[in-house]
Amino acid sequence: MLRSKIIATGSYAPERILRNQDLEKMVDTSDEWITERTGIKERRIADEKQAASDLAYEASKAALKGANLKSKDIDLIIVATVTGDMPVPSTACLLQDKLGARKAAAFDINAACSGFIYGLSVADSFIRSGTYKRILVVGAEILSKFTDWEDRSTCVLFGDGAGAAILEPTEEDRGIISTKIHSDGSLWELLNLPGGGSRNPVSKDTIKKRLHYLKMKGNETFKVAVRTLENLIVDTLKENKLKPSQLSLLIPHQANLRIIQATANRLDLPMDRVIVNLDRYGNTSAASIPIALDEAAKTGRVRDGNYILLEAFGGGLTWASALIKW
Ligand code: ACO
Repeated sequence: MLRSKIIATGSYAPERILRNQDLEKMVDTSDEWITERTGIKERRIADEKQAASDLAYEASKAALKGANLKSKDIDLIIVATVTGDMPVPSTACLLQDKLGARKAAAFDINAACSGFIYGLSVADSFIRSGTYKRILVVGAEILSKFTDWEDRSTCVLFGDGAGAAILEPTEEDRGIISTKIHSDGSLWELLNLPGGGSRNPVSKDTIKKRLHYLKMKGNETFKVAVRTLENLIVDTLKENKLKPSQLSLLIPHQANLRIIQATANRLDLPMDRVIVNLDRYGNTSAASIPIALDEAAKTGRVRDGNYILLEAFGGGLTWASALIKW
């Protein structure tokens, strides 16, 4: 049976670190509040000149090196982002140009924090159908440029970064076992960036109303996220006839430590089998899972034959899971 497997990963985070103590000087917040409510201690912030494709390029170069491949070997590039360089062209096309991956088709996916798993799902289908052989899937975000630095309810949450994975076909009994992707557009208002699109084109008025910044109803989103993710992971394991005890590692989207703990509790999974790095990166949206996956792979936390579960929840609303046998 033809499956797709991840043959290499890479990640990149900008050098500048913004600590909770720095935020205390910017808005009415405290390290204590941020740590207790989210688990975040610091996040990385891109410099003025960096755009999403620059971060994506660094992560992709690392993944290509890990796979011992050249950019010309890539058939398709998928970039998951909601903070692309510009509306047109896609960030994937800009990345293709930077990498010199002339043979590759390229497009973006907009599924907010679930974007990387959506990307894996699409890549997996293309590989299993025999359409493409080598696919680069990237999650890259610069949320700091769409954050209202005067809004304490959102500005403490987000960070910048990118992660990448390269997929290839395999006949072995390993690789991506299943992916599940879901959406509920009726809840779009819980998380959105209303200005700058065709609904509210950029104008002095949209800028005055700060519509060019991300808005989130955090508490309502939190409740939907916990409920939805619990159902998602239970269904994913059930459909694949796996018990939670057979899972070696859970790699959740890094939005909030309390959401991650609730999910782990639901599976009775000890926290040492859950990857948590949001204390260092905050919520990097579509980049959070590939960054965490890369860290897990490089620190030996995933070994051949291990079952790992990726899960995410984000704006759209969207949610998604990927079960992988490493
Ligand atoms: N510092 C201090 N106080 C704050 C801050 C802050 N940074 N932010 C909010 N508060 C205050 C609020 O004003 C409120 O005060 P009040 O009780 O006097 O009204 C109080 O803290 C509680 O606010 P809540 O919003 O209810 O706090 P909550 O415990 O829900 O935590 C948080 C907020 C961290 C945003 C949480 O709701 C959350 O993580 N939500 C889910 C986020 C998520 O998963 N998003 C999807 C992915 S993101 C994407 O797709 C890009």
